[in-house]
Formats: sequence, structure tokens, C-alpha cells
Amino acid sequence: MNISVVLTPAEIALLPQADLSETTSVVFDVLRATSTMTTAFENGVAAIYPAKDLAEALAFKKEHPDALLGGERHGEKIAGFDLGNSPLEYDDLAGREIISTTTNGTIALRAVAHSRRVFAGALLNGSSLARRLAREAPARLLLVCAGTGNDFAIEDGLGAGALLQSLRDLIPVALDDAGEMLLTLWKAHEGRVFETLANSKNGRRLVGRGRIEEVRWCSRTNGCQMFGVLSGNCLRPEA
Ligand code: MLT
Repeated sequence: MNISVVLTPAEIALLPQADLSETTSVVFDVLRATSTMTTAFENGVAAIYPAKDLAEALAFKKEHPDALLGGERHGEKIAGFDLGNSPLEYDDLAGREIISTTTNGTIALRAVAHSRRVFAGALLNGSSLARRLAREAPARLLLVCAGTGNDFAIEDGLGAGALLQSLRDLIPVALDDAGEMLLTLWKAHEGRVFETLANSKNGRRLVGRGRIEEVRWCSRTNGCQMFGVLSGNCLRPEA
């Protein structure tokens, strides 16, 4: 398995032009988009349509009028939407479909949508996802850290590093320098994941707005079994 890593939004912007036809991509937006998606699926949500912007979200809504609109801009619920981007809001939506647009996470998911397969990864579902990847053993694996604004986000690096650790416990994996760095990052922080998330750029913003319990939730490493798998425009739950 050839594993490579994308660490910043600037690199993500180049991915729509990349040939990913033989690549399995895993997108991490630990605070909070992919953690919220994981939580939604764990709680029985049937499908999530990640939209790259507001216009696309509204176009999806026309195609799927019963779906709820969710997501954020500047961390807060978008005016007129049904839901924000807090994982704690997605606890009572079994069977529902959601259209989601967020600042980084849904853009990263759409940027790799032409991959052979796309998973939504998080700290919450790392070991479940690693078992699936070990079974499928894709020739090429791309770990995409969605970031915060224009910057690398340490919590996404931790999510990717935790997945690499779980994968390495199951099968032999060869890592490039960036992969080794993420594994080292994970080993350095695995005993204080919540504290690291709370001290990250987005974590500080969330804590400052009274959202500390959301940060705590997103730091629950391997607390969920479900993960989203992209099929066309739509993430569906699998475990
Ligand atoms: C994003 O996609 O940038 C986020 O998940 C931001 C957030 O909701 O905290």
C-alpha cells in the first residue's frame, strides 16, 4: 500500500485536477465536519450530501427536498439552515438525509470525489476504518487533512496519525516522511488528545464560544464504528 498525505488547503485545491482513479482517499476534518458526519451515521442518518458551497447545497436541496440543510460558516449555523455543524446536534435524526456545507471539510471531500473510493475519517472511527482499509488493501491511499481556514490543523494530523497507527497494527505499511511525521505526532499526543484539540486554532475558537463539549466529543478516539463512504455526490454509512 503506497500511502501519501495532503496536509494543507493549498494542496487540496490541486486535487480536483489530480488522477485519483486508482487512489482511495480518506478525508479528516476532526473539528468538526467529518466527526459530525461520523456521529450522524452512528445515530442512524441515512445519507449526507457534502456540498462545496452554499449554491451547491441549495441545488442539492432542490433535488432532495426532504433532506435537512446543515453546516456552518465561521463556525456558526448558516441562516435559514436546519442544523449547524455540531456533532451534538445530530443525535435524533435516524433515517434522515442531510445536505452539508462547511468551510473546509466538505470542500476537501468534493476535491477527492473522483477517487476510486472516498471515506470520511475522524478520531471517532479510526480503528473501524483501519480494519476496512486493511481488508481492502488499496494500492494507493491518500490521507487528506482538511485544515482550518487556509492552515494545517493539528487535529486532522492526529486523526490521520491515529489511522496510520491502527493500520500499522493490522498490516505492514510503508510511509513517506509526511506519514512518519503524522505517526510521530499521534504517538506524542495520544495520551492527551482532548487537550491538544482544545488548544488547536479551531479548538480555541470552539472552547471560547462555549462549545467545549463538542471538542471533547470529537476527541473520543474510536468511540464510533460507522464511517461515511462517498458514492457519487452522497456519503452513505458503513462499518
Ligand atoms: C470546517 O469544515 O471547516 C469545519 O468543520 C469548521 C467547524 O465547523 O468547526
